[in-house]
Amino acid sequence: LLANSDNMENKERSLDPTNWDEFRKLAYLMVDDLVYYLQNIANEPVWKPIPEEAKSAMKLPLPENSTSAIDIYKTFKEHVLPYNTNNIHPRFWAWVQGGGTPIGMLADLLASGMNANVSIGEHMPMYVEGQVIDWCKQIMGYPESAHGLLTSGASIANITALITARNHFNRDIRNKGLGGIDEKLTVYGSSETHNCLIKGIETIGIGRNNFRQVPVTKDYIINIDALIKVIDEDLKSGFTPFCIIGNLGTVNTGAIDPISELVSIAHKYGIWLHIDGAIGSVLKFLPEYEHQLKDLQQADSISLDFHKWMYINYEVGCVLIKDREIYKKAFVTPANYLMHHDKGLSSGPDPFSNYGMELSRGFKALKVWMNFKHYGLNNYRALIRQNLNQAEYLISLIKGNTNLELLAGNLNIVCFRFNPQGQSQEFLNLLNKEILIQLQVKGIAAPSYTVLNGNYCIRVANTNHRSKKSDFGLLIDQTLDIGNKLMIKTNSITPVEAS
Ligand SMILES: Cc1ncc(COP(=O)(O)O)c(C=O)c1O
Repeated sequence: LLANSDNMENKERSLDPTNWDEFRKLAYLMVDDLVYYLQNIANEPVWKPIPEEAKSAMKLPLPENSTSAIDIYKTFKEHVLPYNTNNIHPRFWAWVQGGGTPIGMLADLLASGMNANVSIGEHMPMYVEGQVIDWCKQIMGYPESAHGLLTSGASIANITALITARNHFNRDIRNKGLGGIDEKLTVYGSSETHNCLIKGIETIGIGRNNFRQVPVTKDYIINIDALIKVIDEDLKSGFTPFCIIGNLGTVNTGAIDPISELVSIAHKYGIWLHIDGAIGSVLKFLPEYEHQLKDLQQADSISLDFHKWMYINYEVGCVLIKDREIYKKAFVTPANYLMHHDKGLSSGPDPFSNYGMELSRGFKALKVWMNFKHYGLNNYRALIRQNLNQAEYLISLIKGNTNLELLAGNLNIVCFRFNPQGQSQEFLNLLNKEILIQLQVKGIAAPSYTVLNGNYCIRVANTNHRSKKSDFGLLIDQTLDIGNKLMIKTNSITPVEAS
């Protein structure tokens, strides 16, 4: 099955296959293989080291001539597919990575086949994204008049909100740049704020030194008194506070900042409030969180991530801005080649390029639309509760064993360590890092790690719709087993029983 660019001297070319029937067969084979792969993933190791041979396959010279699609697929199947991140596996809980869904896989196939550029024009993909954004507004309790944009993830959603907040603060910034205004702008967020926001603050010219990292309480939520104090001090010193960032689920420990108090402070001082809901925005699905999140809709902007705890295939996130006019004014940049017409292809909804940095954009909306329709909110509610219950179950296993120590546990995130008593922090840090690596290298489970108050933790972020309770039991048994064996090796302690 050749691409038709070979053997075509003096003929007009395209990149379509020379033999569509062969192509169709290959397409069916790929779908069959992927369905098998998803169906059987639980029997595979969660992670395995990549052999040199596979890495070498990615160090070949730039291809001058064509290779048949079948041969390329064989290389993919041999060298790429088996060494996936494997966030589709039931015992993958590293960083904050969702597992994707089979229907999401098919949606990406359809979207890629259509190859729509969801930027401008009168075509249905524009309306599908419009539908998804309307649903997001409904989930978050935002008004009809709000607007949003699908993004590659929460990082870009967050920076889009920061740009909107900055440009709204002083309209001169768009013309003159930050150097052309008198104010020295400052941003506020807890010390647990995700580093993508810090990168965003740097990128939009505010500067890292003007991000005030407010201390957290012992539960890792923003210390409200400290926040008020630092805002007051900044005002006295001639700074201009323009944005507060609230965390709806921090990356380290799943902590939720007190949204209602942040809303009151933002209102009192006239500061934009942005909520990073990359992890926790899904809690809006659950009535039991209604009280805690009742003022969320008063935030000026919210970011959410579909590819995390909404289980949708990479990559797709969303930013919502409550005031559509403010949003548009932050980005719209007229150009003759992007003019709106009354009829034809150049008519259609307000271009998405008026609401963000990207002009060309893929059809990410299709997988969100298909997943939401296919599973329905009831399934999401049940799965999110299932993940929360599993995290509680994991906590109970940790608390039930004297050689394990719970370091933090909130929402779907659990941080713990193997702690046979009487060891130094330095030793425990090395020990737990080794345990984590062995869990991964042996293909047992893939939690990740963080450091809390100097303590290295094994960190489980459960956004996995495939995990079962027994997977967490296995994690604990194997953690104890590996920990005990390492302790015997160091002759420091007698082994403890696995639970
Ligand atoms: C709280 C939080 N905010 C933002 C992000 C960045 O999201 P993304 O990876 O989708 O860009 C993450 C990623 O883990 C996160 O946990």
